[in-house]
Amino acid sequence: MIKIVTIIGARPQIIKAAALSRAIKNHFSNKIQELIVHTGQHYDENMSQVFIDELGIPQPNYNLNVGSGGHAKQTAEMIIGIENILAKEKPDYIVLYGDTNSTLAGAIAASKIHIPIVHIEAGLRSFNKSMPEEINRIMCDHSSTLLFSPTTTGLNNLISEGFNPNTKRPYTPDKPGIFHCGDVMYDNSLYFKNISDNSSTIIEDNYLEKGNFILSTIHRDNNTDDPRRLNSIFSSLNEIATNNQTDIVIPLHPRTSKLLEVNLDKQLLLEIKANSHIKLIPPVSFLDMIALESNCSLVMTDSGGVQKEAYYFNKPCIILRSETEWVEIVEMGAAIIANADRNLITSSYNKLKTKSNQTFPSIFGDGKAAEFICSTMLDM
Ligand code: UD1
Ligand code: UDP
Repeated sequence: MIKIVTIIGARPQIIKAAALSRAIKNHFSNKIQELIVHTGQHYDENMSQVFIDELGIPQPNYNLNVGSGGHAKQTAEMIIGIENILAKEKPDYIVLYGDTNSTLAGAIAASKIHIPIVHIEAGLRSFNKSMPEEINRIMCDHSSTLLFSPTTTGLNNLISEGFNPNTKRPYTPDKPGIFHCGDVMYDNSLYFKNISDNSSTIIEDNYLEKGNFILSTIHRDNNTDDPRRLNSIFSSLNEIATNNQTDIVIPLHPRTSKLLEVNLDKQLLLEIKANSHIKLIPPVSFLDMIALESNCSLVMTDSGGVQKEAYYFNKPCIILRSETEWVEIVEMGAAIIANADRNLITSSYNKLKTKSNQTFPSIFGDGKAAEFICSTMLDM
């Protein structure tokens, strides 16, 4: 039996963790004991507990309750809390997801006291170090022992940073193992689609017409915190909704809710709120999100996860960033990088809405990434 400590904190990590917890429960319950530590980075009911309840994730064994704050304070409090737990629990591995401050804190705490790090979603790069996530993921990758990349691009990024794909067991932080295993979020989207079909009422609740609305999410700090970019994105949404008489549903991240009031031009904010085609709603559960993603006509987002889920559900996507880590979906023609450029956003919409020959080949694994990760941890 091995013992792992899984760190969750931000919304996407809580959702990702469901795949590994499910694989352990169904296939490895006599071989892997999982303890879950919630850093408390996200804490609103609809940013955290809803996913734990809905996705069958075991209740966290520990919650550090660090809450929001500047990068340094937030990360530092997490490091202290995680180190204490690791010292007490002495796990065989710490499992870290993605690229948030919770990921970085786990990497710093574990590496200094020699707990091997398993990094899930390794190798992704935006090549833009002004993103806090780029710093977090690079530092985590370079202190990990087992690195699991969802894409071949991710694996190749690691190789170009000096990781050796031919390294053999035993793996160590100095001789790490790198693996291309597919995406645990693809596992989850496949698994939860049927459950969502049978339980979500979000389409009816919001009077949306299946196949005839746009789904949008915006939360990236450089969009919410920069009034120029935020105004450009929301004036594009206003224009597209009005000119095309199409509904746009926007589950608002709390960061965005707060900053719309501060950074959006007052007149535009009034117009957005008065536009019957724009539906600003609170963050939704993952089952509701799957219903929105699989029934919309198109996705517009700056989220990493939502871009990919658009692709899983065969929907074109406009990426409201200047680059993406998920370059495959752009190379396939399924997504367009439009940044926060109003002309580019509207022209991308016009292009994608009439495109009829788009294909969405399967490039994110076989839905069993989490099982592969568990087997590899056991095989170390
Ligand atoms: C974080 C991650 C980002 C990820 C995103 C997923 C970092 C550096 N960023 O960004 O990579 O894409 O989570 O959603 O780790 N807030 C609430 N309630 C909550 C959580 C947050 O009101 O439950 C508000 C607070 O005002 C907080 C702000 O949102 O200051 C930002 O939260 P934070 O966790 O610092 O960063 P995110 O923007 O959520
Ligand atoms: N998500 C959700 N409800 C929402 C918005 C997003 O369940 O209201 C899910 C989404 O389906 C994806 C994950 O949250 O699985 C993405 O999280 P987010 O966009 O916050 O972060 P990122 O992926 O950009 O790090």
